[in-house]
Amino acid sequence: MLVSGKEILQKAHEEGYAVGAFNTSNLEMTQAIIEAAEEMRSPVIIQTSQSAISYASSEGIATIVRTLAENASVPVALHLDHGTDYDVVMKCLRDGWTSVMFDGSKYEFEQNIEITKTVCGIAHPMGVSVEAELGKIGGVEDHVKVDMKDATMTDPDEAVEFVEKTGVDYLAIAIGTAHGVYVGDPELDFDRLETIKKRVNMPIVLHGASGIVEDDIKKAVSLGVNKINIDTDLRVAFQKAMHKVVNETPDVYDPRKMLAPTRESVKAVCKAKMEMFGSTNRA
Ligand code: G3H
Ligand code: ZN
Repeated sequence: MLVSGKEILQKAHEEGYAVGAFNTSNLEMTQAIIEAAEEMRSPVIIQTSQSAISYASSEGIATIVRTLAENASVPVALHLDHGTDYDVVMKCLRDGWTSVMFDGSKYEFEQNIEITKTVCGIAHPMGVSVEAELGKIGGVEDHVKVDMKDATMTDPDEAVEFVEKTGVDYLAIAIGTAHGVYVGDPELDFDRLETIKKRVNMPIVLHGASGIVEDDIKKAVSLGVNKINIDTDLRVAFQKAMHKVVNETPDVYDPRKMLAPTRESVKAVCKAKMEMFGSTNRA
């Protein structure tokens, strides 16, 4: 069933686990994510970046995800990931997304508050929940590119003021993760996470979670992370399966035979993450 992001994340916040927010840009990845959630009896968030929307079209991807979500036997939310463009955020609200991220991290604090508050004012009466980002997460996530030297950790005092003034439903914080493939070992600022969680007392979002070791993920969940964004790990799973098909069966030219293994590979990664995040049997 298709539900709002808040419905899924408020429960996770109250019961102390995290839900995977997995990026999709096509049919097979969407099927993989929903099938994994159904097999694990886990709630799930499927998210599309702005470039995934340009690739598949807003109507195209929304129709696929909404139809599969409505028919799913577990709660599924359709989320706009890193909505940096106000017009895209508005379009997603019109096209049936049940959760949107307005990413105003490139703006000054006050301006980020203003726009996020406006988005909340429009989204909330429609029953759509809103995520915002405070601090700057480094690395590359589709159109969002932040040089590591420009990445900044979330300030706890600012987080409290931001949440009070905007009415946002869940907050993405920067505590040392980065988008894309890690070059070194990331060091997470768990004290910062613990402080922010205690002070804002709401669902917290961790971006750039691909490649973070299991112990760190579990610690982050125990300290209050409730939404964990995974994109790169799914792309790598897709790529490995695709390479295998091309290398081992070069004569196969049926797209379905080529893509089915990618679906299985992405699904296996989603299932492992759900187990790790503690969301299994929570549907
Ligand atoms: O917004 C999506 C993510 O933060 C995904 O990060 O590519 O490191 O998994 P990732
Ligand atoms: Zn992200």
